[in-house]
Amino acid sequence: MPYESFHASIGSIVYEWEVVGRMAVRSRAGKQAEEKLPGFFSIAIQTLRLDEVIDFDLYLPPASATGEPVLYRRKSLPFSEEARDRLVSNAVDEVYVADVQRGPYQRYLERNLGNILADSSVSMEERVSRLYDSAQGLVREVLEDPRSGGMVERSGELVEHMVRFLYAEGTSFEHLMKITSYDYYTYTHSVNVFVYTTALAQHLRYDEAIVQRLGQGALLHDVGKSMIDTEVTNSKGRLAPAQWAQMQQHPAFGYDILMEQGYQDPIGLDVVRHHHEKLTGRGYPDGLGGDDVSGWVRMSTIADIFDALTTRRSYKEAMHTFEALQLMNQKMRKELDTAMFREFVSMMGKHTG
Ligand SMILES: [Fe+2]
Ligand SMILES: [Fe+2]
Repeated sequence: MPYESFHASIGSIVYEWEVVGRMAVRSRAGKQAEEKLPGFFSIAIQTLRLDEVIDFDLYLPPASATGEPVLYRRKSLPFSEEARDRLVSNAVDEVYVADVQRGPYQRYLERNLGNILADSSVSMEERVSRLYDSAQGLVREVLEDPRSGGMVERSGELVEHMVRFLYAEGTSFEHLMKITSYDYYTYTHSVNVFVYTTALAQHLRYDEAIVQRLGQGALLHDVGKSMIDTEVTNSKGRLAPAQWAQMQQHPAFGYDILMEQGYQDPIGLDVVRHHHEKLTGRGYPDGLGGDDVSGWVRMSTIADIFDALTTRRSYKEAMHTFEALQLMNQKMRKELDTAMFREFVSMMGKHTG
């Protein structure tokens, strides 16, 4: 397709969902604001599995706007049907967990995620929230201590549940789009890149089993950033040449960490090592170009750039989806795969318009 008509088609698609996109941005910002209670996070009662031992304390919501959450159930007690019914009859639909018990909650969530996602009695909003939470919680832990062990298995299982859910529930991507974090942290960015990459691969009709492998690479793509000095990763401005040189090592560091942990999937390793390669050959770390840049990398690169542009950092505002796609189309045409980018735009139009 000639560039002009390609551009025109992007324009018309983007125009249609521009307004909807803005609403989506607002609602995800609103969601973050309403959940703030210092030292705690909330979970829907529906997502607590009956008769499972819960190894974290549960608190009831505060009675007044300025009150503290009230301890309701100590850890190590199973959550019975009776207990749940009592809460429901008192119109309590969510409980709180202390931030300090996020670790046990994370494990509980990972153990039960498959059941939660498959449970149609749990609302779609709640299911995608738990999916997002469990994935970002895992990546957060991995970034803090990438060599703690078990991360290859844990992320593999998590990705399996998540991709199965994305394939089974046609509207899951729209719901996920609404809650993707607006503020940039490496762990939220990693989950967003997972969401956009797997959605694009699904849109391109790849098999679920392949997308699981691709998705694990996308979720872990920036794990090498754990080896970069925080003053470089948190830098608010332009990086000095030595800092930039260090930053450019993160894909190779990630690749090495995963290899050390016994991860051997060529698709995932390719994404982790090459997500900053460009079709022009001017990317890093290996300076691959043209046909040497695989389709897996081409998909994850589009997702990676798109999320970096549409999230907010301390030194820059988030770009609106429309502006980000326009910029990618105008300024990165030679670096990105044109056909895949067009599919990405059409996917975003289809799911948000
Ligand atoms: Fe990266
Ligand atoms: Fe990234």
